[in-house]
Amino acid sequence: MHAAWLGDEALRAVGSRCVEVLGDAPLIQTIRAELAHAHARHGGSTEAPQLVLALGGATGPEGYLLSRADGVTRVLAETDLGLLHGFFHVVRLGEAAFDGSYGPGLHQPAHARRMLDHWDNVDRHDVMGQVERGYSGDSIFWRDGVALHSAADETRVRAYARLIAATGINAVALNNVNVRGAAARLLTDRLDEVAWLARIFRGYGIRVHLSVSFAAPTRVGGLGTSDPVDPDVAAWWAKTTADVYAAIPDFGGYVVKADSEGEPGPFGYGRSHAEGANVLAEALAPFGGVVHWRAFVYNHRQDWRDRSTDRARAAYDHFAPLDGQFRDNVILQVKYGPIDFQTREPISPVIAAMPHTRVAVELQVTQEYTGQQRHVCYLAPQWSEILSFPLTATRSVDQLATGGIVAVSNVGDDVFWTGHPLAQANLYAFGRLAWDPSADPAAILDEWAALTFPGAPPLVAQTLHAMMDDSWHTYESYTAPLGVGFMVRPHYHYGPDVDGYEYSPWGTYHFADRNGIGVDRTRATGTGYTGQYPPPWCDTYESPQTCPDELLLFFHHVPYGHLLRSGVSVIQHIYDTHFAGVERVLELQPLWERVAGLVPDDLHARVAQRLVEQLRSAIEWRDQLNTYFLRKSGIPDAHGREIYA
Ligand code: GCU
Repeated sequence: MHAAWLGDEALRAVGSRCVEVLGDAPLIQTIRAELAHAHARHGGSTEAPQLVLALGGATGPEGYLLSRADGVTRVLAETDLGLLHGFFHVVRLGEAAFDGSYGPGLHQPAHARRMLDHWDNVDRHDVMGQVERGYSGDSIFWRDGVALHSAADETRVRAYARLIAATGINAVALNNVNVRGAAARLLTDRLDEVAWLARIFRGYGIRVHLSVSFAAPTRVGGLGTSDPVDPDVAAWWAKTTADVYAAIPDFGGYVVKADSEGEPGPFGYGRSHAEGANVLAEALAPFGGVVHWRAFVYNHRQDWRDRSTDRARAAYDHFAPLDGQFRDNVILQVKYGPIDFQTREPISPVIAAMPHTRVAVELQVTQEYTGQQRHVCYLAPQWSEILSFPLTATRSVDQLATGGIVAVSNVGDDVFWTGHPLAQANLYAFGRLAWDPSADPAAILDEWAALTFPGAPPLVAQTLHAMMDDSWHTYESYTAPLGVGFMVRPHYHYGPDVDGYEYSPWGTYHFADRNGIGVDRTRATGTGYTGQYPPPWCDTYESPQTCPDELLLFFHHVPYGHLLRSGVSVIQHIYDTHFAGVERVLELQPLWERVAGLVPDDLHARVAQRLVEQLRSAIEWRDQLNTYFLRKSGIPDAHGREIYA
């Protein structure tokens, strides 16, 4: 596997110095092992220590103090996990950690839980494969129903744990939220597979969680019901959970997708989602575990003829009335937008609607709707924008996310981990932003590039910035316009298909006709979705005059001639952005050619190959979108460019 951001060279600064590590807690042993490896490689000198790591100080459960004085860099932490985070901070700084004097600075994570969810299947699924929405090969945990347990598999899982721990991740859910086939038994007679993985992750301070089926009592427990208020069901969850903790004392908890896209849930028994979540939470409470209960609940069998149902409203309508009814170890896991990880969506109003509930915000590192790791799309700017969004008068999304930050992982058994080598930056950036949401995406990119391509000439970082900094906007420009979303090939979610979902049951429509396009979600004339927002957003979004351009079609149905706040008409914006987007993609290949020979050849070749596909796909998007809207509207491009009418 590719070393990603922790190759031997990335540890040169610590490896070439004398380091003193005090104490012997488990994660201190991990630090020692890291140092032993780095010293073997870089020959750490035997003079007086230049780096000292020790327990001490009131730094909180994961925090640390970092300072440098009198030629010695010091990391002090209350816990061994804090010390491990501090060690990786020093690694990230490289030579700068040993420069001058600074600090002491106290570093603590903004969120207690920073989690990656794997959508890995145990059985290979006919349609979804080994990893649902995976674009990086197969799972690193299971293949065709069997756990991957060889020494090489263990080495790979350990390398993964090390990589994500170095970014600040401290929790991993191992399996797909759609719990199919044998995956349901990870909770029971296949628990040893979870324990085996937990042991490896534990070595880097990461706790494992499991996606479980709400219907587990019937599916694997042999009960006649999974009704959450049935005492036998509660007893089954209590006993099963106690067995899990007997095997894995630091087990994190459960992730549940219930009453969502066909998964079973409490509605099947006429119970509420609070009743459903609480029965699992009660079983976990004695052990300090949590339930991540997903708010992704909507009618996926909608009739497109029915204009009164709005999928965007669903999570709020289901969950907001339940505020205050969840046990305190239930974390409601809410996707950042009301629909589904689109390139551009407004922030989910659920995040502000439940002050008495712990809410986690869910992001997607795997690029399901953002180019599937075939297109360059650096997502840190999007996440940064989401997390800093002032959803209420006093609080940003990040501050409202009292239950932590979660994202769907983009890792598989691909030799570069992420299919597209540059998509490693998304994995790296997610961990860094979950720890410090105020971090600057461009600075994170610099940090990632310096670790991943150590010693490379400045042209490499310059090129990566030129290709990646604005790549989310570039992707947005040649795909679905102005927040309308979902103009993708049904099921695959890759490539353009403007009407692919228009007459489907999934509730993702754009309503383009010959006069205009967009979804009227206003209170005045539409579905009323704008009413789910606190002020000022309920009013900002209600009027096309104040609605931000990039979300206009999410909230409003407007004529093609409607003038955006930018002064350009909607139809002209569609043409302009699609032409401009392809122009920007055309710049990528020559940019990447500049660094041939300056980055590893195999990595260069893989990126080059993906760029060919990105260009093909961007042209396909441009031409299909432009032609579609020219045919619909009959309005020609003001600049007379070629559109295939
Ligand atoms: C999306 C995705 C599904 C996934 C679902 C979820 O709809 O396409 O594959 O199961 O999200 O988040 O549960």
